[in-house]
Amino acid sequence: MIITIGNNKGGVGKTGILVQLAASLARANRSVLVVDLDPQGNASRQLGWEEDYENPSPTIGDALRDAQEGNGAGALVEADLLDSGIGVDLLPARVDLENRISEAATVGAVRRLRKALAGWTDTYDIVLIDTPPSLGHLTQMALAASDAAVCVTQPEFDSVEGMTRFRSFVEEHAEDIANPALRFAGVIVNLHKNLNEHVFQMDGLRELVGESEILEPVIPERAVIKEAAAAGASVAEYKTAAGKRVTEMFDELAVSFLTKIEVAK
Ligand SMILES: Nc1ncnc2c1ncn2[C@@H]1O[C@H](COP(=O)(O)OP(=O)(O)OP(=O)(O)O)[C@@H](O)[C@H]1O
Ligand SMILES: [Mg+2]
Repeated sequence: MIITIGNNKGGVGKTGILVQLAASLARANRSVLVVDLDPQGNASRQLGWEEDYENPSPTIGDALRDAQEGNGAGALVEADLLDSGIGVDLLPARVDLENRISEAATVGAVRRLRKALAGWTDTYDIVLIDTPPSLGHLTQMALAASDAAVCVTQPEFDSVEGMTRFRSFVEEHAEDIANPALRFAGVIVNLHKNLNEHVFQMDGLRELVGESEILEPVIPERAVIKEAAAAGASVAEYKTAAGKRVTEMFDELAVSFLTKIEVAK
């Protein structure tokens, strides 16, 4: 299963959640490939990939430029070469992925990622694609390559609006991006705080998407999640009480995620 993680709103924790979810899935013995489709390269960095400026290695941007069937494999970095020790494979991105955006008008451009992943990614249990905070070409390529889409949102007005735009795009444009089988599989709520506004937004969200669309548990704002993202590590490395609690939450989220994507099949 190939899953795009997205939201039109930036900074809601798409990348941080994707990385910790990938780590939990790996701990549950799933084979996972992360595809970084954001020119910011945050997922690549958090998974422990370092760009070698002297001897640059191929990245997803190169594979998409050449647009050959299956050539994403040429940019593959296997888990044991990544410093995070998270245990997932990676198709890394660097800032030159931006250059692919201007190719959007080329015939078949929206299917280039699908093509790059074809023929060699079936061996993974899960492929997770990280996307920029945009509904533009890169996110459209991700969605065109995916079986399902999952949104990460904060329980805040603008993030929920970004979620709605992302979900509507998936539901209304699946055919336009030549992927009519694409399904919206649910919402992960992140950065929850004990504020009246967040309680209010959670009620609105439940009404908007339905209780069953919200993956359990809601992930709170926690220092250890930020620290793990900064260090490029799994939260499971943090053996404090807070680290253990958060690790349990992500393990539970992974179970909920697997259930949702099975239903979305
Ligand atoms: N649950 C959390 N608790 C504390 N900090 C968090 C949490 N989730 C994310 N963060 C922090 O919030 C910031 C934004 O997160 P992140 O970069 O993952 O968001 P994003 O949606 O991927 O952003 P972008 O749209 O730029 O790709 C980061 O500093 C991250 O470490
Ligand atoms: Mg991100």
